[in-house]
Amino acid sequence: MLVLGIESSCDETAAAVVAEGTQIISSTVSSQVEVHRPYGGVVPELASRHHLKNVVPVVRDALARAGTGLEDLDGIAVTQGPGLVGALLVGIQVAKALSYVARRPLVGVNHLEGHLFSSRLEGTDPPDERHIALLVSGGHTALILVEGFGRYRILGRSRDDAAGEAFDKVSKLLGMGYPGGPIIESLARSGDPNAIRFPRALMKKGDLDFSFSGLKTAVANHVREHGAATGTEVANLCASVQAAVADVLVRKALRAVKRHRVGSLVAGGGVLANTVVRRALEDSAAESGLKLSIPPISLCTDNGAMIAAAGTEHLKRGRRSGLELNASPRLSL
Ligand code: KG4
Ligand code: ZN
Repeated sequence: MLVLGIESSCDETAAAVVAEGTQIISSTVSSQVEVHRPYGGVVPELASRHHLKNVVPVVRDALARAGTGLEDLDGIAVTQGPGLVGALLVGIQVAKALSYVARRPLVGVNHLEGHLFSSRLEGTDPPDERHIALLVSGGHTALILVEGFGRYRILGRSRDDAAGEAFDKVSKLLGMGYPGGPIIESLARSGDPNAIRFPRALMKKGDLDFSFSGLKTAVANHVREHGAATGTEVANLCASVQAAVADVLVRKALRAVKRHRVGSLVAGGGVLANTVVRRALEDSAAESGLKLSIPPISLCTDNGAMIAAAGTEHLKRGRRSGLELNASPRLSL
């Protein structure tokens, strides 16, 4: 089954052709990071306008690299939500038009489900059918008990900021720019992760919710007390923030795994591009004999392949969206 996936929920315009839901034939991502950088975050209207400009060239590029015509496709999958409404509408409208002219089935995909499917790409072992999923992106942080395809039970989620959002806000607060995750990771490289003991929220309680807004406040207080950080202090601050986030994510994920007695953990979302977070997860999974499915770094952030992969599962089950498909900015799993 050959599926075209289109993604435009935030600041990446992306398209990919995926075979059998697992093999990437082509994947094109056009990032708007440079557009939004001067504003320190994504400006929704600018995002829509740039999707509009880029979406057709991106789709064309993905099809050309795959050597695929529309007539070769078995279906078209597009991100339906959650995300920025104006941004989502651009990808959806293009997917609808292609589906209409090529007479190929269309399916709307939940962006979060897409992130959970990115570890299936590139020949990695599929997870156990019943597993725990850890979703860590710019807009969401959640632990999910997956009991089979489409059977999701949210065990915990962030009560305030998502983990990626925490990185972005800390970076902004330190005057370091956007997007925060990769900037903090690179500054942290020469720092000491034990230099500052930042709070690990909600760790004592047994629940599986997250809270990251206290981390941002703790960094703000630290800067207020010690003055603006420079050189090694910046590196230590970043390394300590990164360690606090990694620590909470890993400990909560393992807590969920133990509580629900599963042997398989799937991780996904932009924050999994962080090598410290990845290593912490990999080490703990190895220690506890847990099967870990984690996407390669290039597939952690938004892309069209993950939408095609999740879309393939829906199409295989005969699920279709009509041409009345609309954006669902607050879609949940
Ligand atoms: O999944 P994603 O591309 O978009 C959403 O669906 O939100 O995630 C973007 C988030 C941003 O908050 C960004 O700062 C974070 O992922 N991120 C990282 C890294 N690369 C991206 N966080 C930590 N370390 C990274 N290397
Ligand atoms: Zn995402």
